[in-house]
Amino acid sequence: MAIRQPILSVLGHVDHGKTTLLDRIRGTSVTKREFGRITQHIGATEVPTDTIKKIAGPEMIPRTIIPGLLFIDTPGHHSFTTLRSRGGALADMAVLIVDILEGLMPQSIESLRILREHKTPFVVALNKVDRINGWVKGKGLSFREMIDAQEEHVLERFDQLTYKLIGQLFDEGFNTERFDRIKDFRRTVAIIPICAEAGDGLPDLLAMLVGLAQKFLHDDLDTPIVSGPGEGTVLEVKEKKGLGTTLDTIIYSGRISYDDTIVVGGKNAPIVTRVKALLKPKPLDEIRDPREKFDQVRSVSAAIGVKIVAPGLEDVVSGSPLRVANENLEEIIEEVRCETEINICLEEQGIIVKADAIGSLEAISNELLKEEVPINRAEVGDISRRDVVDASTMCGEYNQMILGFNVKVLPDAQELINENDVEILMDNVLYKLLEDFAKWRSDKRLCLDKEARGCIVHPGKFEILPDCIFRVSKPAVVGIRVLCGRVRKGQRILRSDGRVVGLIQSLQLDRKSVIEAKAGDEVAISVEKVTVGRQIDEGDVLYVDIPEEDSKKLRSIPLNVDEEDILETVRTIKRKESKFWGM
Ligand code: GTP
Ligand code: MG
Repeated sequence: MAIRQPILSVLGHVDHGKTTLLDRIRGTSVTKREFGRITQHIGATEVPTDTIKKIAGPEMIPRTIIPGLLFIDTPGHHSFTTLRSRGGALADMAVLIVDILEGLMPQSIESLRILREHKTPFVVALNKVDRINGWVKGKGLSFREMIDAQEEHVLERFDQLTYKLIGQLFDEGFNTERFDRIKDFRRTVAIIPICAEAGDGLPDLLAMLVGLAQKFLHDDLDTPIVSGPGEGTVLEVKEKKGLGTTLDTIIYSGRISYDDTIVVGGKNAPIVTRVKALLKPKPLDEIRDPREKFDQVRSVSAAIGVKIVAPGLEDVVSGSPLRVANENLEEIIEEVRCETEINICLEEQGIIVKADAIGSLEAISNELLKEEVPINRAEVGDISRRDVVDASTMCGEYNQMILGFNVKVLPDAQELINENDVEILMDNVLYKLLEDFAKWRSDKRLCLDKEARGCIVHPGKFEILPDCIFRVSKPAVVGIRVLCGRVRKGQRILRSDGRVVGLIQSLQLDRKSVIEAKAGDEVAISVEKVTVGRQIDEGDVLYVDIPEEDSKKLRSIPLNVDEEDILETVRTIKRKESKFWGM
């Protein structure tokens, strides 16, 4: 029975060696040709079983049933969430690359979270072991040979670093172990130490990948997927000289042929068009940066990376579904529409979310909704003038905000931001963006609290200190200690018998005028319309008088326990006179 090749995603923090690993497997040097040596796009490479056998040695992989592995190289700064398929992650398996000296970094952690969410099986390639002092590199050594070549003290450091990573992975909720010590691969994630640059450890890594794929993915890779109408995901939308707009896609199921009708997700609505050409990189070559010209083919079947040329692709959104629709066109259009729409509930007043692809947009939006953040609009694309205008007119204290994941601010939007009171937060690590946003919200809350405290009378309790009567009346000047809460200029005084007396005219702390005194402060206050010995006296414990309206507003302001207590006492005092006070 024919089995499709598994789709294998290579993930990891920027510069941890994803592209180098693939270069070594392919025998290419894509890394060297990359701008700034950073992967800017997602690439796909087919690695046939023969090549894998050549690298690993036939004895490492005695029996292969898969035709090869389709590797997808993601840029470190790009979210894996672009790689979706119907009902989950595009990749059947993943390799998480970690630099042994750096350990888990933000994008490694992000990758782990996504792998967990999609339940994608993976192994960890512990790369750059040669950066350990004294490490002796080989040339395509197996793990055993690689270890045998090292001195004792080097291996000690190597063990230390490996355990450190195992600990870090444990903290992220993963049970991992060096692959040669694992008994049950279903329960433990394998760590395979490698030196991608020299190719050491690669035989074991590849043998492990083929082994795991054949053992655990057999059902997923079975034949029906190879036939039937093609289904895929758009990795990237690209302008190509002489070809117009083209799509780099991964076909993960079925077959796609020249002249097929296809439906693909667009900015506004699904796009229906016809395949004019299918361009396939040669095996071991890269879809995004081929050394040789693509082969033009009439037909390809899953799983494969293929460039599609067709008219009318300008509005396609990356991360969109692509479906062959020679039959059941209407039905498929509807399905693509459903898959392209992000399924979240939008609010009339809320923040604006922009992201680079549907997958990432959905991931952020879902996280925000979990925190009950209202979203007004969630779209794929850069931050535009319209976004800024819309955000600036949003009601609600927390809604003049645009969150951007892996997008740019367009130049004309930038001008407007400077003129408007709109906040923008951007990042290319999802959880960092969400963390920054949470921090912004809590800072904002504090700030609003402060404002609210300024105009809403706040609970306060104080004592008139003995021997601190500086003036008896007109105005009375006495020393007080604030017992809890706060006392502010302009407030009236409530006695525990319910009588409201005097008006605090000013406060002095260490001979300086202040607007407010807090719990623990000892200040002198001047009070109009009272006489010491009549309405107030030494040793009296008094309260700030809270207007009924303000007592209601205080419900929505965070108060500490003492403040809640005072408020409750004030309510009790007031309700002796007026039964429903503050209700
Ligand atoms: P992005 O695509 O930008 O996320 O990076 P990447 O993960 O693809 O990393 P890349 O393969 O471009 O490697 C980054 C740097 O690390 C390059 O300078 C590589 O030469 C170096 N490097 C990769 N593997 C090894 C290794 O095994 N040993 C050493 N010493 N350096 C390595
Ligand atoms: Mg790279």
